[in-house]
Amino acid sequence: MAPITTIEHLGQFDGQEVTLRGWLYNLRESGKLLFPIFRDGTGQVQGVMFKKAVSEELFESVKSLTQESSVIVTGKVRAEKRAPGGFELDLLNVEVMQRVPEDSPYPISLKDHGVEFLMEHRHLWLRSPRQVAILRIRSEIERAMHDFFYEHDFTRADPPILTPAACEGTSTLFPVDYFDDQAYLTQSGQLYMEAAAMALGKVYSFGPTFRAEKSKTRRHLTEFWMVEPEVAYATLEDIMKLAEDFISFIVARVLETRRHELGVLGRDVALLENIKAPFPRLSYDEAAAMLNEGFAKGELENAFEYGNDFGSPDETYISSKFDRPVMIHRYPAAVKAFYMEPDPNDLTKALCVDVLAPEGYGEVIGGSQRMGDYTKLLERIHQHELPEEAFQWYLDLRKFGGVPHSGFGMGLERAVAWICKLDHVRETIPFPRMLHKMYP
Ligand code: 4AD
Ligand code: MG
Repeated sequence: MAPITTIEHLGQFDGQEVTLRGWLYNLRESGKLLFPIFRDGTGQVQGVMFKKAVSEELFESVKSLTQESSVIVTGKVRAEKRAPGGFELDLLNVEVMQRVPEDSPYPISLKDHGVEFLMEHRHLWLRSPRQVAILRIRSEIERAMHDFFYEHDFTRADPPILTPAACEGTSTLFPVDYFDDQAYLTQSGQLYMEAAAMALGKVYSFGPTFRAEKSKTRRHLTEFWMVEPEVAYATLEDIMKLAEDFISFIVARVLETRRHELGVLGRDVALLENIKAPFPRLSYDEAAAMLNEGFAKGELENAFEYGNDFGSPDETYISSKFDRPVMIHRYPAAVKAFYMEPDPNDLTKALCVDVLAPEGYGEVIGGSQRMGDYTKLLERIHQHELPEEAFQWYLDLRKFGGVPHSGFGMGLERAVAWICKLDHVRETIPFPRMLHKMYP
């Protein structure tokens, strides 16, 4: 019996017989030769079948094989410099598990399909080499995230998904019936992670978060995955350092282990190789001045109004001036969430940071130092018209051993879109949830 392996590990079996389990991707024929291309989720390999070397029945079975039929393949591995993975398989047997019927072919052929059609067939679109490459990079980023935090002595703690109140503003909440109460799907685990940080010091969470965003942009999902570290005794400065080390670590890991997949996507890796801490830092005021200058030079269509949050053309403009992520800190408190600590040097500003990815990808991380003072926090809760009862436990954290503390959240899909250089976040997650989009 030939050992069972996967395409990415064929190199360990040069000259030997192996068994692969996968699907037919494509089939070429040339006289007495068949060249089926198989895929198994780890890569693709071309098989070679000589008419004379196998039974007529087997040859005909492979010759009529349809795209995406499932197959168990046995063959001898042969190094082949011209092959994309470096190896070919001289086929000895192909056992067909399920043959896709000739009269009802796999809907996604190898020609181009429109995005609309592909989105409706997302359950099958996932199998295409591009989507496989993206999901393998996504998975590697997740692994890198966990490795980074464990290496830095963080404890993972999982915040709830059903919550009684808003974290990031009341306009993007998804309501859920909770017996006789109203609950919401979480927008961020942060508030709970603050409690966990007071218990454990350095914590992080990773889980799905929800925003009923009515915006139909290439950066917005209604369900996305956020990784959120929270650190007791940390200041804004400390988590800015953490954020740049974190991003640099993740990019370095993808370059190390997923170069092949970046190649499948045609990603310019030289641009990723620049991504090393320290990252440039700009205050909100400096960034605003840059936007004014850009407008004066005619490089920006619209003038920036001081005091506003940055729009995506603004973010794109700022990040286009740098070859690595930019950290913009100290935004006006008025445009940010209720829980941020004011800057002692200018009480109208918040001790917060947004990290903007290069190449026009915009904000990938949002973080801040959290409000330390009980009375001021209560005031903010009132100002933002949040229900005080639901925040009693959160206020308690300022009453029982309060300490300066800070954290941030990174949207995984935004990071994947940037690292893979995708046009839209819809390809970064197996089954995207967007405005008016829930199927499949
Ligand atoms: O900037 P945000 O709203 O920050 C928070 O939720 C904080 N409570 C995080 C924290 O400090 N622990 O969201 C954080 C990140 C954004 O920078 C962005 O990458 C991503 O989450 N994000 C989205 N990603 C996809 N679709 C959306 N609708 C997103 N909204 C935010
Ligand atoms: Mg933000």
